[in-house]
Amino acid sequence: MVNPVIVGITGASGAVIARELIDALLERERPVIAVASNAARMVWQEELDESYNRATARWLEQPHFRQYGISDLFAPVASGTFPTAGMVIAPASMNSVASLAHGLTPNLLLRAADVTLKERRPLALIPRETPLHAVHLENMLTLSRLGAIILPPEPPFYLKPLDIDGVVRFVVQRALVALGVADQLPEDMQYRDRER
Ligand SMILES: Cc1cc2nc3c(=O)[nH]c(=O)nc-3n(C[C@H](O)[C@H](O)[C@H](O)COP(=O)(O)O)c2cc1C
Repeated sequence: MVNPVIVGITGASGAVIARELIDALLERERPVIAVASNAARMVWQEELDESYNRATARWLEQPHFRQYGISDLFAPVASGTFPTAGMVIAPASMNSVASLAHGLTPNLLLRAADVTLKERRPLALIPRETPLHAVHLENMLTLSRLGAIILPPEPPFYLKPLDIDGVVRFVVQRALVALGVADQLPEDMQYRDRER
């Protein structure tokens, strides 16, 4: 049995990244455990024109998907004894980044992320805010020094992505590589030597 990947969804802009990431993991038959903050649910509705509950109802039809409520501190992912393959926070709000950088774990998402750090498992964050002030940057530096991978949803301009879908696909593939779920990016996303 392959260990599950935890997907934490916070209330930053970019709900589509979480949706595509969960789809990509389930397509690979990787077990997924999702936890969404209350703000994430609001942003999901606003940006994707569907409720988070409707999306999870679709995923729950598959055997590899599980979810827990944000206040459910009895969920297995709240304990380091429960084995996981790591966690992605997608998108990561500056609020949750700040909490995590300071070891604050008032909800299941932050507790699961803190556990992932203390157990030295892969943790990738897809932070979304612009511009960034010094506290945002310092918090991300703290997390990077703790071993988290900071993966801003930056467009790969050199690949000439045509649209937001292309950028989202790229960021999702990057997250899969960061977690070790994929060995490398698909060939069409790799920067290659050109004929000169
Ligand atoms: C539509 C919308 C978009 C938002 N976008 C961002 C964002 O891009 N980055 C961010 O850090 N916060 C953003 N916020 C604010 C967060 O949702 C807010 O700080 C919230 O307290 C985060 O809580 P959480 O970390 O528990 O999800 C947004 C809020 C709304 C309603």
